[in-house]
Amino acid sequence: MSSGSKINTIGVLTSGGDAPGMNAAIRAVVRSAIAHGKKVKGIKRGYSGLLKGEIIDMDARSVSDIVQRGGTILQTARCVEMTTKEGQEEAAKAIKAAGIDGLVVIGGDGSFRGALALSTYGVNVVCIPGTIDLDVSCSDYTIGFDTAVNTAMAAIDKVRDTSTSHQRCSIIEVMGRNAGYLALWCGLANGAEDILLPEFYDFDEQKIVDHIMENRKRGKKHHIIINAEGIGHSMGMAQRIEAATGLETRATILGHMQRGGSPTCKDRVAATTMGCYAVDTLCQGKKNRVIVEKRGMITDFDIEEALQMEKELPEYQVSISRELAI
Ligand code: F6P
Repeated sequence: MSSGSKINTIGVLTSGGDAPGMNAAIRAVVRSAIAHGKKVKGIKRGYSGLLKGEIIDMDARSVSDIVQRGGTILQTARCVEMTTKEGQEEAAKAIKAAGIDGLVVIGGDGSFRGALALSTYGVNVVCIPGTIDLDVSCSDYTIGFDTAVNTAMAAIDKVRDTSTSHQRCSIIEVMGRNAGYLALWCGLANGAEDILLPEFYDFDEQKIVDHIMENRKRGKKHHIIINAEGIGHSMGMAQRIEAATGLETRATILGHMQRGGSPTCKDRVAATTMGCYAVDTLCQGKKNRVIVEKRGMITDFDIEEALQMEKELPEYQVSISRELAI
């Protein structure tokens, strides 16, 4: 890729919930920028650190030995100030004061909205989707999802062992905020009897109770329910299901363990590709883009347009999950 003339210094930050593979993305941004002859600055703790001037110089050695590590070496934060006009103005000033003329933001939709706000103050931004939730509408893939699904899948397999031994019903709550992607993928991968998705849930627990009783008659020894965080209330649900079915029912909330751990190959490669693509995009003189994966290809969209896009759970996979739970 040819290097553009306007960008001398590239900044990089991670924002919102961390996701496995963010370190691989940081490494790719830093090393690719250096390969293009650019200086690199790392901003610590996302937009919060930016507002406090927590900016460090980075070189090729700053990102040694991190491609395999979970979390983010730059750390991250959820920054309420960035949702205000004053905060956005301060953040844009901090970018200019640091001499950063191209900023790579790694995070989810909320982080992209912060980047869009910065762009209105003349900051040139490029975003990379990084969240375990897969809920960035413009991209088919978000860094961290594959690792999180695999982590949850391994945990659910373990719960299933004990559930079968005790012939119990088990409710396992997975993360995903208001989106059901993690729950759907776990449900399919773990062969769950019920997958409760925020996009479709009708709060009719009697249907679940009936399904459990039907499956008992069919000879099933356990009943695994994957419940999405967006529905929540797993503990209360377990008590009500136990009372209605007479079957011992336990709830397990997997929580933040889904966000940690060494990234899978898919996440390392996606992060590395998107990190390099982000730097190429800046160096080509493009402004205010989101790097996305679409039908297996990496490409880029305008941020404002990207934030207006919509994405839905794949209907076919939702329907087969029901078909197979017999
Ligand atoms: O966006 C990632 C995520 O883990 C969501 O699945 C979850 O709703 C949220 O972050 C939890 O946020 P926090 O770490 O701030 O509790």
